[in-house]
Amino acid sequence: MVDWFLVACVLGGAMSFVGLCFLGTCVCVLLFLALIRFVIVPLDCDAVLKFHELFGKQPESLKGKVVWITGASSGIGAALAVRLARAGARLALSARSVEKLISVKQHCLGTGGVTEEQVVVVPLDLVQYDQHQAAFNTVLHHFGELDVLVNNAGRSQRGCWEEIHLDVDKELFEVDVFSTIALSRLVCKYFLEQGRCGHFAITSSVAGKFGVPMSGSYTAAKHALHVSIGCPALHQGGRWQCTS
Ligand SMILES: NC(=O)c1ccc[n+]([C@@H]2O[C@H](COP(=O)([O-])OP(=O)(O)OC[C@H]3O[C@@H](n4cnc5c(N)ncnc54)[C@H](OP(=O)(O)O)[C@@H]3O)[C@@H](O)[C@H]2O)c1
Repeated sequence: MVDWFLVACVLGGAMSFVGLCFLGTCVCVLLFLALIRFVIVPLDCDAVLKFHELFGKQPESLKGKVVWITGASSGIGAALAVRLARAGARLALSARSVEKLISVKQHCLGTGGVTEEQVVVVPLDLVQYDQHQAAFNTVLHHFGELDVLVNNAGRSQRGCWEEIHLDVDKELFEVDVFSTIALSRLVCKYFLEQGRCGHFAITSSVAGKFGVPMSGSYTAAKHALHVSIGCPALHQGGRWQCTS
């Protein structure tokens, strides 16, 4: 298939050659299109996130820090755990599936960046709110401190908006929103009491920023997270940045 940028170059060159536009204008337009074609389009994230990936702090800056990751038994949470283990962060891994968490822990140990003691499995069903404090105590008891909470656990949903059963909305909000808020509040109080410069991260989604077809409940849940966690971060004088 012919690259659309190549077509634009040929068209632009021909137009400036026959005098339909100035060469300078043509070059500016083509440079702008080149930026889209070779920089923006190939990105698998938004430009701000890419900028931070290239020029911001690297995961190695978290060496020795205690990072608690929810939803660490699979997908993004598991991959993040392994990457941070390689960087030497001390990790608490939470999810419901204990076997999967143990397997992720083994992968973390396999990186050589952490020792057995530096990765702890903390089983937690996030919608069991009364388990949050006990799980947090386990993390604190093991490491004596916490630096970062990564709220990554989440569920998704697909379906025609008018056909979605309200129970689906409720269940999704329980995991994606309310449990995240509840756990973050616990940790936020700890950060404030300790006078620590703690960090929260949330695995949101492009759905939470722009909305996604057939994902009404999911879009609403992720959007709610941005608003709910963003407000107190600003109120406490913290910094809130939303990338996808
Ligand atoms: N994959 C994508 O394309 C994508 C894009 C944008 C955003 N995200 C977001 O990224 C996050 C991770 O997604 P993923 O794709 O990596 O999905 P995933 O592989 O299904 O991981 C979801 C994680 O959440 C955990 N979890 C689910 N319900 C839980 C509960 N009640 N209590 C505790 N843990 C629970 C699961 O563990 P257990 O089942 O063992 O409990 C699992 O570890 C989600 O918040 C998702 O919305 C994903």
